[in-house]
This record gives sequence, C-alpha cells and structure tokens, in this order.
Amino acid sequence: MSGTIRVPGDKSISHRSLILASLADGESRIRGILDSEDVRATAEVLRALGAAIPELAGEMRVNGAGIRGLLPPRRALDCANSGTTTRLLAGVVAAHPFSARFEGDASLSRRPMKRIAEPLTYMGAKFDFEHGDGLPMTVHGADLRSIDWDTHASSAQVKSAILLAGLVSEVEVRVTEKSPSRDHTERMLRAMGADVETDGNQVCLRPARRLSPIEIDVPADPSSAAFFVALASLAGGGELTLTDVCLNPTRTGFLEAITRMGAQVDKTASARSGGEEIGSLRVRPAPLRSTRITEAEVPSLIDELPLLACIAAGAGVDLEITGAAELRVKESDRISAVVQNLRAVGADAEELPDGLRVHASRRELSGTIDPRGDHRIAMAFGILSAASGNHITVTNPDCVAVSYPRFWEDLRRVAA
Ligand code: S3P
Repeated sequence: MSGTIRVPGDKSISHRSLILASLADGESRIRGILDSEDVRATAEVLRALGAAIPELAGEMRVNGAGIRGLLPPRRALDCANSGTTTRLLAGVVAAHPFSARFEGDASLSRRPMKRIAEPLTYMGAKFDFEHGDGLPMTVHGADLRSIDWDTHASSAQVKSAILLAGLVSEVEVRVTEKSPSRDHTERMLRAMGADVETDGNQVCLRPARRLSPIEIDVPADPSSAAFFVALASLAGGGELTLTDVCLNPTRTGFLEAITRMGAQVDKTASARSGGEEIGSLRVRPAPLRSTRITEAEVPSLIDELPLLACIAAGAGVDLEITGAAELRVKESDRISAVVQNLRAVGADAEELPDGLRVHASRRELSGTIDPRGDHRIAMAFGILSAASGNHITVTNPDCVAVSYPRFWEDLRRVAA
C-alpha cells in the first residue's frame, strides 16, 4: 500500500454549489464538482425547475437566475437516492410560488421528511404526503415568514432547508441545533455575500436581496478520503498521502476518532476555497486500540460510523457507538446493515437501539456481505476486504456510484 491519491470532490459542497449558483445573480464557476449519481440528481432536479445547469464537468459555468428565479416544474422531481437533494431543494421550492412533487428510489422513499416539513409548514408552505412522512411528497410553495427553529437534533439537511427557504423568501431565519452539524451552506452563502452569523450551535441568516456568483474549487470529500485513511492505518507497511482534502472542522470527527485509536495521520492545511479549509493527510500503518463514540461527537463523523465499525473489526479492537439512532434512517438502516454484515464475515458485533458494539476478535474475516444498496456500507466492507488476511466479497458493488463511482479502481490502484 503506497502512493498519493486525490479522492473525488466533496458531495455536500457539490450539491450546494449547484443549488446556490442557480440562485445567484450572474455566472458562477465550479471546478472539481463530484460527478456521481447523487449530484446528478440535484443537477436534474434543478434543470426541471428551469435552472441552466450544463452537463457535470471538471470545469462548469452556471448562469444563475436570481434568488426567486426558478420555474414551476413540468414533471415530478426525481431525487433518486439522495436525501440532500430532496431536503435542500424542498426548502428552495417551499419559498417559490408553485408546487412540486418530489419522488425517489425505494430507499429514499422510506426516509423521514417530517423533519423539514414541520419548520417549512410553520413558515407558511404546505406539504402533502402519500404514505407516512416519506416520498412521494408534494410541496406547495408560498411567501414564507421568518422562523426561529430549535431542531432538538443535529442535521445539516434540516438546517440548510430552513436557510434556503429564508434566503429565497428574503426573511430572517434562525436555527438552533443540539450540536453543530456540517456548515457548508453557511460558508458558501457567506462567500456569496449573504449575512450569516454563527454563534455556537445557532445560525442566523438575515434577508439578502441577491446572491453574488461564486468561483469555487470543490475540495476532495473527507468522507471518501476516510476509506483510504482506514486502509493505510490497517496496512502492513507503506504510506499513503491524500491531497486536497476538505478539512472543515465540522467534518473532521473521523480523523479525531481514528487518531485517538492510535492512527498515524499528519495533517497539513494548505489553502481555502469557497470558505472551506483544504489540506493534505499523510497516513502510515499503526497498531490501533479500542474507543467509544458518544452523541456529542456523532454529527462530525455520522457518515464514517460504518467505516469505524469495520476498522475496529479489522484491527481486532473494541468499539462502542451510542447516540447515533440517526444511522437507522440513512440510505439503509446502517446499524443493522453493519452488524449483520460484520457477523456474516465472522466478526463479533451487536446492535444497540442507538448504536452498536464491536467486540475484539482476532480471527480472519471471510464471507459475502450485502450492502443493501448503500454506497457507504459497500465501501466500508471493501476496505475491510482489502485489509490483509480477509476474504470478503461485496455483492452489488456498483452502488458506490452514489458518492464515489471510481472507488474500486482507486482501491485496486493503491492497495496493489
Ligand atoms: C449531508 C448531511 C448529513 C449527511 C449526509 C449529507 C449534507 O445528513 O449524513 O450524507 O450534505 O447536508 P443529516 O443532515 O441528515 O445529518
């Protein structure tokens, strides 16, 4: 295991760059956008809303139509597998004077939307659900009023839906979270001239008449980089360098957790773009030890928790995760998917209502796992399978296309 790798662009920032560029006055330039199924879903939904989004490419120009410039869609909005597409764009549509029907695949259709419907309804929009609070969902937009919302949770998607609704309606919005979630929307809005104030776990957006276009280099996705940090930590030798990684402090929880486990990760901050910190990571193998993840830490590493469980199983150490019930409503029930699949390859793991435990075991892991169509489960077990001594087959490996289409090629290249 050796070399240098630049993983693809950050998924969260890529979604936001398309959405905010569509709402800006004038031409934005986006370099290094993630070309994956989730981001394609956002591009397609924006096109259905009349935005001038070209084909995704390494260098793109987007001509924004202004903050209330989107048009009534002539078809249902297909959000595919993407929760970010649905929740952020529901916030945008809620503030436009038209209705739109949001649809998604089977996994997305099961995911809860009440968390955005509640605050957006309070602001004056209307939501119609056909089954429970999942998709399909029809959003009836309106002139919205100001809101001061306590989410009693930590969700960047909920926070962003409210911020975007406030932006388009030109009203002040304030959101309080239990602990701060990723803040890419706030950073990008600020970089585009909006007045956004953050104070601990509270954020306030003041009315803006317009959004300036943005020029942004999308940094590499820290959630994708995490797979290779894990691989290099579990390897028998060598060294791996990850370049251009987004080091936004709301996304570095995984690096903190694996460092606490004993991993050797040197971080070098090097640049900023679109309000985001960027840097390199140099990772060498190291013996790992047990750790515990509790609620306060969860928002900063929510997407990396399946990987941490696989790392613990691969390193033969104990891991306990609590305060992470949210994992049950991701692309799959990630608590059940991780525990069932770890058991299927011979590891000792158990489910908790709000997390899981992995118990140290030294045996070699082997067998077949079913990622349940969930990209992050497939990649986490892909790393476990590349760790020496394990023989694991991942069924439906193509589901990685949601966030990291060339994952298997990159893994083969650095693990060769
Ligand atoms: C995301 C926010 C997180 C994360 C998801 C992407 C975003 O979800 O799990 O993969 O881009 O805002 P929540 O906001 O629901 O925690």
